[in-house]
Formats: sequence, structure tokens, C-alpha cells
Amino acid sequence: MPRIAVLTGGGDAPGLNAVIRAVVKTAVLQYQCEVLGVQDGFDGFVDEEGVFPLTLEDVRGILPRGGTILGTANRGNPFARKVIINGQWVVEDVSDRIRSRIKELNLDCLIVIGGDGTLRIAQELFELGVPVVGVPKTIDNDIGGTEFSFGFDTAVNTAMDALDKLHTTAESHHRVMVLELMGRDAGFITLNAGLAGGADVILIPEIPFSFDKICKKVMERQGSRSKFSIIAVAEGAKSIGGEQLYALPADEVSVARLGGVGDLVSRVVCEQTGVESRLTVLGHLQRGGTPSAFDRWLATRYGAASIRLVMAGGFGRMVSLQNGAIKDVTIAEAISKPKRVWLDGDAIVTARELGICLGD
Ligand code: F6P
Repeated sequence: MPRIAVLTGGGDAPGLNAVIRAVVKTAVLQYQCEVLGVQDGFDGFVDEEGVFPLTLEDVRGILPRGGTILGTANRGNPFARKVIINGQWVVEDVSDRIRSRIKELNLDCLIVIGGDGTLRIAQELFELGVPVVGVPKTIDNDIGGTEFSFGFDTAVNTAMDALDKLHTTAESHHRVMVLELMGRDAGFITLNAGLAGGADVILIPEIPFSFDKICKKVMERQGSRSKFSIIAVAEGAKSIGGEQLYALPADEVSVARLGGVGDLVSRVVCEQTGVESRLTVLGHLQRGGTPSAFDRWLATRYGAASIRLVMAGGFGRMVSLQNGAIKDVTIAEAISKPKRVWLDGDAIVTARELGICLGD
């Protein structure tokens, strides 16, 4: 009886539970596998009780639930794990412990559901001989080798809903409403939600912006019948010649926490145009809630396909969506070519054709 373990790593995203459910159902019903759940990402291999059986009973009813029943960890890199020893924070490499635990558990494969950072760890473990299969997860949709990661569609819908709601205040008060959205290095959420939600200005990390261009657009709209503007800005966007803004600096194990660009844009627009401006930071609302139909559908297909990949011995590979069909690529390829908004693509061309200001 094959023995497969599954873990979720990095930030949560809508659809994680749908993948776990499909993994368990396919593995048990089609291949009579034993499935184990790993608690809180790779940390589960370090903790005494971090690995436990996952049965059909355990995954009943979880399809529409956000988050992950397995728990996840952002700071759980086994090659650089931050722990308190004698009252001091220490960074230690526990990868050997994890490898011996995987051997001890007699695992035929470890399914790793995660974004860029988690898949990098999976690749390192694979290179050290651990049989892994990856599933791409991130609301940012920036993982290479796949058209979509699950979680993205739900996040875009949440962001679009926020833009719809901000429209009513903007229109009533003749104000500028700025919405700061997630997106560290890729502007897909902001671009897609901005187009779907009718933003007047869309600022993404891939296109450094000029304050003058934004203010010009706002003034144009003040002089028209609309008299309000909606600005959608990705947290990772930066001004021409400027830097990304951080709310918290990076440390030995974590990347810097982005934050502040929405506030900056809102303040500068107000100062330079005299038009009242308000900021909303949507934050983790984008990662929460029930997954959209598209994300449930994609996550379920990814989960089932990951088990097929395990049974075919496709270790070191990641399930992916290519031209609408589920295929797979090497994890190495997926992480070596992160996805960014294509500046000549039709979404950007469309935005420009509609007169949307992209800040350049
Ligand atoms: O990677 C997804 C993401 O949503 C980024 O867009 C964002 O910068 C980050 O997660 C926030 O993570 P945390 O939950 O650690 O603040």
C-alpha cells in the first residue's frame, strides 16, 4: 500500500482544502493509498505529533472552506528554521531531521502544496533524494510553468468586490479612493481586478509610476462628469526611481513585509490635486473566504492530478495548467521562471485602450 504525505506551506490561499480533499479521495478510492497529513508545513516533521493519518472522513465537508485544515507556516524553512534556544532566537538547519523522519515514516512521496518559497524548499529536498510532487498555490499567480495557481481567482473577485463598493463612496463624495492590493512582484491581482472593477488608475510592480501622470488623470476626471477616481495599487508597486515600501524589514528567515505605497499615493494625490483622497488596504481579506467555483475546480483537478503524477513516478515535478489542460513541469523550471505581467499582452493593451492610467 503506497504511503503518501501531504503538506501546505507559505501563506494560505482559498482552495487549499479542495486540493487536500481531492488528494485524499483520489489516493484512497483509486489507488488504495495510505495518506498522512503534515501539520504546519515542514514543521510537522520536526514536531512529535505533527504527522497523522488523513482519511476520507477527515476531508468530508472541507471543499468550500478557506484556509487549510493542515495549518501552514511562513517561517518553516527546514534549511533555515527560526527557533528559541535558551531564550535566544537561533536559525538552525533541520533538513537532516526532516529527511530521516521521512525515511522513518516510509513515505513513497511527499506532496507539497505551496508557492514560490515552499516549492524552492521542495526542490532542495528533492535534490537530496526526497520524492516530492508539487502543487502551485498563490493568490499572486506568479509561479512559473502554469497559467494559473489556485487562490488567484478568489482573490481577484474579492478585490473586484471592494472596488465596486469603493465606487459608491467615490461617486457620492467626488473623492479619490485608493485601494492597496496584494502582489509583491507581480501585478496580476491589481491588473485583473482593476479591469474587472473599473479602476481609473492601475499601478503594478512591473510598471514604475510617475505621480504627475496619476495626478493628471485625477484632474482630468475631476473636470469631467464623473468627478471621482478609483486607484488600484499593488503593494509592490514603486515610483519611477523609487523603491518598494516596507512595513517591516526582512530578517534571517523572512522577506520584508510590504506596505505603505497606497498611503503614499493617496497623500501625494491629495497634496498635488487638492482632491480629497482616502485609502483602503484590503490585506488578508484577499486570502480568506470560500474559494470561487474556478478555484475549487482547479484545486480539485490539481489534487487528483498530483496523485496520478505520484503513481507515475513523476517526482520533482509540479502539476500545472497549460492551454486549459492539466499537465506537469519540473519544479526546477517552475521556480526558475517566475511569472510577471506581460507588458505587451492584451490585458495591458486593453487597459491603455480604455484610457486607464498605468502610471507611465
Ligand atoms: O504571497 C502571497 C502574499 O499574499 C503576498 O502578496 C503578500 O506580500 C504576502 O503574501 C503577505 O504575507 P503575510 O501573510 O506573511 O503577511
